[in-house]
Amino acid sequence: MQNESKKSWGRGVIARYREYLPVSQATPVVTLGEGSTPLIETPKLSDRIGARVFVKYEGLNPTGSFKDRGMTVAVSKALERGAQALICASTGNTSASAAAYAARAGIRCAVILPAGKIASGKMVQAIAHGARVVSIDGNFDDALRIVRELGDQGEFAIVNSINPDRIAGQKTAAFEIVDELGDAPDIHVLPLGNAGNLTAYAAGYSEYKKLGKSRGLPRMIGIQAEHAAPVFHRRVIEKPETVASAIRIGNPASWEAAQRAIDDSGGAVEIVTDREILEAQSWLAQTEGIFVEPASAAPIAGLLKLAREKRRDLMPKDLTVVCTCTGHGLKDPEIVSAKFSQAAPVAPNIEAVREAITRS
Ligand code: F0G
Repeated sequence: MQNESKKSWGRGVIARYREYLPVSQATPVVTLGEGSTPLIETPKLSDRIGARVFVKYEGLNPTGSFKDRGMTVAVSKALERGAQALICASTGNTSASAAAYAARAGIRCAVILPAGKIASGKMVQAIAHGARVVSIDGNFDDALRIVRELGDQGEFAIVNSINPDRIAGQKTAAFEIVDELGDAPDIHVLPLGNAGNLTAYAAGYSEYKKLGKSRGLPRMIGIQAEHAAPVFHRRVIEKPETVASAIRIGNPASWEAAQRAIDDSGGAVEIVTDREILEAQSWLAQTEGIFVEPASAAPIAGLLKLAREKRRDLMPKDLTVVCTCTGHGLKDPEIVSAKFSQAAPVAPNIEAVREAITRS
């Protein structure tokens, strides 16, 4: 009885999917109760797309992004191997997650970030959790190169998605989707940055299919921002630029694996403009009630574009589509708040307030 309750106690992806993860009884589990995020049916989006569309809302993880799924496994394994300190390069979410899980594990964490290109909420998280924050005069790709070199010297455990434990943890999102839908969706759309997450989903879907838990495999569709689209253009982009700072990456680490997953699944890579991203972000927040950061709105923008262009090759009618919205909108508040000028306060009486409400 005691054993049974010990086994089933607690939340988190290791508790839920232990048998599919590279952990043993010897692994000290570092968890913040990540995973089990809602799969939200989106009727208005479904209408526009002509398919049954669900949003996997990963912004509801403990640090507000999907990174927590991989971080629980990567930090638990790092601790098991005796690591004293973690390191990562990041466009913001990996650093927020690494900082939180390092704090939880009681070990040090250094995060290497492109100066001036991190959304404010993510920067605040790294600082709040006590990470050592180093901003470099370079982009994410430069930061990752430095992190690889430092990791090779053995002083730090790297917790970027080049660490296979991260990918292992992140594949649990695909498990959750199949567990909930009873089968794999026909199409899976997600933002493509360093390309770890698409690789992780493909691995999760294929593992579950081999176990007979689903009948098919979804087409994997990765969405990149127009000026940060190395996979789409099939070349390294030296100076990637996009409002979606999380996916401002010119030379993705998991490029090959993601390309293979896309090709094997009959999927595709598409690009969207910054304007399309911001429009999709605002539309999703205002019609479906789901507020996501710009990178997470990229797949919504991508879906809308495929529907607009009537790309029935990729999106035949009446399919089931899952779209991963990878991070919470609150991480990047300036993007939205910049659109509103703060109105002057009005007198504290009903007439003035009613007038202000109805003013156009
Ligand atoms: N969406 C968000 C919100 C992200 O933070 C990232 C990546 C991605 C999508 C792309 O996922 O890299 O696996 O293809 N963020 C990393 C970071 C690079 O440092 O936080 P990917």
